[in-house]
Amino acid sequence: HLPVDVDISHLAPGQQMTAVWQSKPVFIIHRTPEDLNRLQDASLIALLRDPESDAHQQPDYTRNWHRSLVPEYGVYVGICTHLGCVPAYVKESTSGPAGGLYGCPCHGSRFDLAGRVFKGVPAPYNLPVPPHVMPSASIIRLG
Ligand code: FES
Repeated sequence: HLPVDVDISHLAPGQQMTAVWQSKPVFIIHRTPEDLNRLQDASLIALLRDPESDAHQQPDYTRNWHRSLVPEYGVYVGICTHLGCVPAYVKESTSGPAGGLYGCPCHGSRFDLAGRVFKGVPAPYNLPVPPHVMPSASIIRLG
């Protein structure tokens, strides 16, 4: 598989896009300062099944609180870890401390903007982080 370069120069804060890598949807989210504050908020972390991502599927260089190379950009395989539906980006949820999140339309699993799964939903794991690098400030290279 060849790497896939994704131009993120037009991705404004608060927006997300879906790229395709190895036939899979990959979510790229440009998180706002408020999003980043929420990711570190104890009231959100208390609702997550595996906030430290001990269980799964991310390169070592994304083993940090934002699960990514740089805090502003999150990169997650957009396939629900329950039965494989594609979760939808919800910019601001109206309930709970998450702010934005990803909601799975099939059986209601929810993931925060670092792809971390909430407790009490069918999905067992956080969304995986695909291997990626940033060769420049406006390019994310997948694979
Ligand atoms: Fe997402 Fe079941 S496939 S909750």
